[in-house]
Amino acid sequence: MTEHRNAALMFAQDHKDQTLAKMKELIAIPSVSTDPERKEDIQKAARWLEEELKTLGMTRVEIFPTPRHPIVYAENLSAGEEAVTVLIYGHYDVQPEDPVSEWKTDPFTPTQIGDNLFARGSTDMKGQIIACFSALDAIRQTGDLPINVKFIIEGEEEIGGSNIEPFIKENAELLKCDFFLNPDTGMQAPDLPTITYALRGIAYFELRVQGPKQDMHSGSFGGVIHNPAQVMADLLSGLHDKKGRVTLKGFYDKVLAIEKDEREELRKLPISEDFFLKQGGVKALWGEEGYTAVERIGARPTLEINGIYSGFIGEGQKTVLPAYAMAKVSTRLVANQDPSEVYEQFKSYLTENAPESVTWELDKLAGDFPSQSDRKSKWINAYLDAAEKSWGKRPIFKREGGSVPVVVHIQQELGVDSVNIGFGLPSDNMHGPNEKIHLPTLYKGIEALVHFFFNLKNYE
Ligand code: BES
Ligand code: MN
Repeated sequence: MTEHRNAALMFAQDHKDQTLAKMKELIAIPSVSTDPERKEDIQKAARWLEEELKTLGMTRVEIFPTPRHPIVYAENLSAGEEAVTVLIYGHYDVQPEDPVSEWKTDPFTPTQIGDNLFARGSTDMKGQIIACFSALDAIRQTGDLPINVKFIIEGEEEIGGSNIEPFIKENAELLKCDFFLNPDTGMQAPDLPTITYALRGIAYFELRVQGPKQDMHSGSFGGVIHNPAQVMADLLSGLHDKKGRVTLKGFYDKVLAIEKDEREELRKLPISEDFFLKQGGVKALWGEEGYTAVERIGARPTLEINGIYSGFIGEGQKTVLPAYAMAKVSTRLVANQDPSEVYEQFKSYLTENAPESVTWELDKLAGDFPSQSDRKSKWINAYLDAAEKSWGKRPIFKREGGSVPVVVHIQQELGVDSVNIGFGLPSDNMHGPNEKIHLPTLYKGIEALVHFFFNLKNYE
């Protein structure tokens, strides 16, 4: 076993170029899930994975169509019934590449500059998928798999897709496993292996405020007909109070307070306010009074305006009173908040605060619950040891501000816990222009995964 482990580690070391080449192939497919014009590319990415999983020696590989984007399933259960079975998650869809003009290299031409590989989807999360593939390949090319492996790789994560939940429900037997490995989170720094034990939920909305039946002359009608952009601005600005708290009635009612010892622990994390200042390139931070930046991100709910549109935004000027205004608004939720309750709270807010001079419509987009994972499970212990072997450091535990909606569905439908890890870095520009992945960290991650999979053999 030790011999096999060492041989596998060596194999992974020796095949970094292959890992890089595979990653580039997958990343070059612009599988943007929100864009209807990229439907073909979505299919292409799913088929690429199907082929690759076959090459990896998966004994069953299947593409399951859904009403929107397909789910790729694969398994190799050759380790036998007694062995641990891990269900590995991935999403092959990516965020849109806009604003394209801000990219220094083409978003879908993976480009290596120094230690980093730049491209949309590199860190979120095609690189992480390939890391799992490479670790398993290294193990299988040098001996037998010590564990049973299943994969579930979806194409709707970035749009909060609603098809994964029923898929898990309907295929609970197929997906049966001892635990879930979610490599869609990251590390705090290249020398700080990280385990994420909480992910926030999300409730995403589109708000439309309708004014006059069409755009009008702002001189002839402004000051008499209520400007919907003005109304929108009033409504949006009312969503936070002076203390940075969200004003929706009932929003905090179910929020679990952060326990004293967890607060103390979070304070010890090597994440300073300076990190946020630097990362954002801003002069000052902002947020809910009474909480540190780390607490606000992981343990408190927040509300963001993701986009606003109204009227004329072209070059020069146009004296127009716009017919409507639109905004995208999302809230990040923590235990025990419920996304559908937040929807009701938002509707009540609009009913109470929108003036009679306009009409409004609120659409519910993504709605997902937050999740928490056991920090003391044997699976976590196996990873603690694996990461320590790879980085020479014990991982830190953190709460993540982002969301991976599938985790809670797995916990609820399959009754197993999730190990949330990953090899992306906060400086990877996830969802932004010039997304990248730090290759040395990814290679270390592959090493950690090799150790992890071998460790699991002892955790039956
Ligand atoms: N990989 C991210 C989640 C994440 C963000 C992990 C930051 C670690 C650090 C994931 O792909 C993601 O972006 N999820 C979306 C889900 C949403 C669209 C339902 C998110 O959090 O915005
Ligand atoms: Mn993402």
